[in-house]
Amino acid sequence: MKTLSPIDEGSYLIDAARAQLAKAYAPYSDFPVACALEAEDGTIVTGVNVENGSYGLTICAERCAVFAGVAAGHRRFKAAAVVAKKGPGITPCGACRQVLSEFMDPAAPVFYPDDSGVRRTTIAQLLPDAFSRPT
Ligand code: THU
Repeated sequence: MKTLSPIDEGSYLIDAARAQLAKAYAPYSDFPVACALEAEDGTIVTGVNVENGSYGLTICAERCAVFAGVAAGHRRFKAAAVVAKKGPGITPCGACRQVLSEFMDPAAPVFYPDDSGVRRTTIAQLLPDAFSRPT
């Protein structure tokens, strides 16, 4: 079995996200973003940012992907990728980190492109000491 290098590792998910960028609805910021999540069974679900004339109602690509995935019946995601049309890679905003952490393990990878290839971080690195509902 081929061992994936850190550079190759997330490229399948980055590509899946990038393929959705044209669907982003970002007429106000002109900053299209797309996110792809790999569910536990291997299904890839995606989301894009969807802006609104009432700016604060905008939903980020990451939360769009989580909500679409949960609505499709998924409960856990084992990897995420985020891409923006412009500039270098971006990582999820604070609100999206919290939402991702509800459905992903702390060690789960989050991939994003940068000038030198694919960067890999984790949910725990993005949101240390995350809040979780007491059980
Ligand atoms: N945005 C995302 O979709 N994800 C992020 O993690 C950060 C920001 C969107 C929100 C808005 O539509 C645009 O990027 C500019 O902030």
